[in-house]
Amino acid sequence: MNEVTIGICGLGTVGGGVLEVLSRNADLITERSHTPLRVVHVSTRYERKDLEAGGITVSRDYRDVIADPGVQILIEAYGGTDHAGDIVRAAIRAGKQVVTANKALIAEQGNELFALAAEHGVSLRFEAAVAGGIPVIKALREGLAANRIEWLAGIINGTGNFILSEMRDRKRQFADVLAEAQALGYAEADPTFDIEGIDAAHKLTIMAAIAFGMPLRFDAVYTEGISTLTPEDLAYADELGYCIKHLGMARQGEQGVELRVHPTLLPMDLLLANVNGVKNAILVEGDAVGPTLYYGAGAGGSATASAVVADSIDLARQLSANQGCTVPPLGVTPAAVRDLPI
Ligand code: NDP
Ligand code: HSE
Repeated sequence: MNEVTIGICGLGTVGGGVLEVLSRNADLITERSHTPLRVVHVSTRYERKDLEAGGITVSRDYRDVIADPGVQILIEAYGGTDHAGDIVRAAIRAGKQVVTANKALIAEQGNELFALAAEHGVSLRFEAAVAGGIPVIKALREGLAANRIEWLAGIINGTGNFILSEMRDRKRQFADVLAEAQALGYAEADPTFDIEGIDAAHKLTIMAAIAFGMPLRFDAVYTEGISTLTPEDLAYADELGYCIKHLGMARQGEQGVELRVHPTLLPMDLLLANVNGVKNAILVEGDAVGPTLYYGAGAGGSATASAVVADSIDLARQLSANQGCTVPPLGVTPAAVRDLPI
């Protein structure tokens, strides 16, 4: 195979980041993919003569990218669940491999989408959907595959952690820090998802499905955000030797899996208490390995593109090795999926 071809729908923070990383590290990505990865078609509302000059087809309508028979891997970087759902379904039906960073889509429609992908013999990859650039999906699916996961807990929304850190350490106002997170491309298009815990609940849903071999159960997550926290709350916690962090937690209990996201008081000597800014960190306890920690940038164009491109490289290796792309959805076989009472 001479090359593997990519189409990207949406050139916002993530789509733009993917173009940048693919171009910056083209040589080593080619080496690691065992073939060049070439973007051949993108959709965007804007004129992009620079991309056209480089031989990339630029369309206004995302349907043109999906209809392009020359696109092998389709990257959905649109966001939301309406258009994004249409994009992913249409791409799967067209036989394309699909990569997305869209946790809302995976958490809310993933059960159906993975079944569709399996039906069409294609892969749907989503490393970037949880914790931006941290390869925690790969860790759960592959690195910890020998373990029974007992629990996992972490800071899984970069915008929220940035807001709490800046309010506490620099005494800034909530609205002011949120506006900065939006300007930096960390926040969701609708930042309510970040500050009301919905984004963290999406990510927890995905991690729990892999860790505990259960279906995606976004409806089962107890969800509270950070929007009602005040500088006084943070100052009182500080006086007592604690800090307030917004955590997502999943635990296997006798009654099933408990899923919750909410602000939590943490003693300052805990690792998670010292994770600040846009950084995310996830602790995962496996019965064989014990506690493990995954830390890094939880949002932002370049960090998220790192994960999207990693998924694309994996797919390119499979395509170029002509192995087909039939990785089981979420890394578990349908027979292993248990509908746990939560
Ligand atoms: P942006 O809003 O920055 O980009 C989305 C792009 O999609 C837009 O810029 C636009 O492309 C296109 N688009 C979206 N909706 C429409 C519409 N209705 N009509 C026309 N074009 C549209 O979002 P992000 O890149 O930040 O996020 C994309 C996905 O990645 C989301 O699912 C998000 O949750 C996820 N994600 C984001 C992270 C981040 O740090 N930002 C981190 C991890 C995941 P164009 O401007 O080219 O026309
Ligand atoms: N809005 C998300 C966050 C993007 O701030 O964590 C990364 O998923």
